[in-house]
Amino acid sequence: MTRNADLDTAWREVAQLARSAGEVAIGRLLQGEPDRGRRLRIDAAQLHLDLTRQRLPGDALAALIGLAEAARVEMRRDAMYAGEPVNFTEGRPALHVALRAPAPSEGPGEASGPARDGIAGEVATTLERMARFSDAVRSGAWRGATGRPISDIVHVGIGGSHLGPQLACEALAAYAHPRLQCRFLSNVDPQAFDRAVAGCDPATTLAIVASKSWHTQETARNALALRRWFAAGGIDQQGLQRHLVGVTANVDAAVAFGLAEASIFPFRDWVGGRYSLWSAIGLPVMLSVGPEHFRDMLAGAHAMDRHFAQAKLAGNAPVLLALVSLWNTMALPGSTEVVVPYSDALRSLTAWLQQLQMESNGKRVDREGRPVEGPTAPVVWGGPGTDAQHSYFQALHQGTGVHPVDFVVVVPSGRDPEGRGDALLANALAQRDALLYGRDGATPGAGDDARAAWLAAHRACPGNRPSSLILLDRLDPARFGALLALYEHKTAVLGWLWDIDSFDQWGVELGKLLASDIEPLLDPARELPADVAPDLRALLERIRGVRGGSS
Ligand code: F6P
Repeated sequence: MTRNADLDTAWREVAQLARSAGEVAIGRLLQGEPDRGRRLRIDAAQLHLDLTRQRLPGDALAALIGLAEAARVEMRRDAMYAGEPVNFTEGRPALHVALRAPAPSEGPGEASGPARDGIAGEVATTLERMARFSDAVRSGAWRGATGRPISDIVHVGIGGSHLGPQLACEALAAYAHPRLQCRFLSNVDPQAFDRAVAGCDPATTLAIVASKSWHTQETARNALALRRWFAAGGIDQQGLQRHLVGVTANVDAAVAFGLAEASIFPFRDWVGGRYSLWSAIGLPVMLSVGPEHFRDMLAGAHAMDRHFAQAKLAGNAPVLLALVSLWNTMALPGSTEVVVPYSDALRSLTAWLQQLQMESNGKRVDREGRPVEGPTAPVVWGGPGTDAQHSYFQALHQGTGVHPVDFVVVVPSGRDPEGRGDALLANALAQRDALLYGRDGATPGAGDDARAAWLAAHRACPGNRPSSLILLDRLDPARFGALLALYEHKTAVLGWLWDIDSFDQWGVELGKLLASDIEPLLDPARELPADVAPDLRALLERIRGVRGGSS
């Protein structure tokens, strides 16, 4: 496919505007662009998005929308919804939107197309199975091998098979079943295992092994360790069917591991790992919050899917979020994306986003294999406010780099006697203002002129630092689902703008391969092969020495 001339022109225009954007004053934009609020504040799927405090002038916004048109973002979106192989390096669709569509698709912009036929029924069947199982576990009807109800759920998985479920369980903790405690095990470090099962009784524990491929080393090892843990706790192979279920797109491998088909919740390979929360991978979430709230979460995501499918580019929340992100990579070279949820329940949002955005868009060549011009996938980092304010916010206010912040703010419910909710909210709003307005640093009574100027230089916060606001009136399943879908679609739009494959992850494979090559070399009984590189050889000899000595 050759790039169309319109696209080249649109990129040139945006790049030129970005080069001259360094000194744009957000305050001046807010005062001087009367329709800025109308263009950059959007309500979608019960979320309120405010992008007015970005260093994005109106003419640049218009150019970016022109770029999205030239990149045929709407056509790409429709292709994704229709189940076309948008994951072009693997020849697969990316149909997470089908997992949250309520019924077979109808109408323009709704998921429809040849690849969607039959999918809705399959999705519904899996959801019903999950619901039956969840109801049984939640009611206590599902008994462990010794006849006792389940009290602890240990979810084993990594990457997309872990981050979404953990985030959702934390975010929706207010809806959690009081008897069931969800624990998450991702790292292959034995200490992580010990922490995950600490205090658990095998007789009342349900383990969920979640792996799309069923080949991921960390999950496979942890699954074996769990089997051993259950055996040590008196749960034999037959009893294990009451304590261990699998979630996978590779049913044969799960059966080979020893699971009965009845203990396996399947999903398809058109569900990308980092988009899999909505599939059977969401089982711990459903177990925790119940089928109805899980469906509400799907409905919230679907509401965002509809908005993304139907809103014009200029008023489309995921599209605008993506365009702002692209703009910042161009206008603020070296900038990163900071995500700060002002809600403890969303403390794992940043980790989920890191995989979503950086695994999806951490690519360097386009569809044709040509290098992408300019940076892709800015580093995403952050963590919950107000903790963040007592840590890295100093650098955001006074550091030499400019790093746009997404404030994800949940309006605290009610008012507690100590005013903690009000304090949380006030801090979020104050930080936005501090980033925007800064302060000049002058201190009355600071001493003579020279000293006053010196102190002012240290105290001054330059301001004009961009931020976005995503406001949730409350953190319920629907709004939570919409929030995640917003970021998912933002990520996809960026991928289409860069013309990269947001749905593969070849880079991750390299590390997996090398780890399996290196692992046998750790065995002190084996002679190191002659072709081991000298620096690795020296390191291995040292490690083997340490381990040999400690055994
Ligand atoms: O990190 C790479 C990756 O392939 C992710 O995309 C995926 O979410 C994760 O590994 C886990 O894979 P699986 O679900 O197959 O165990």
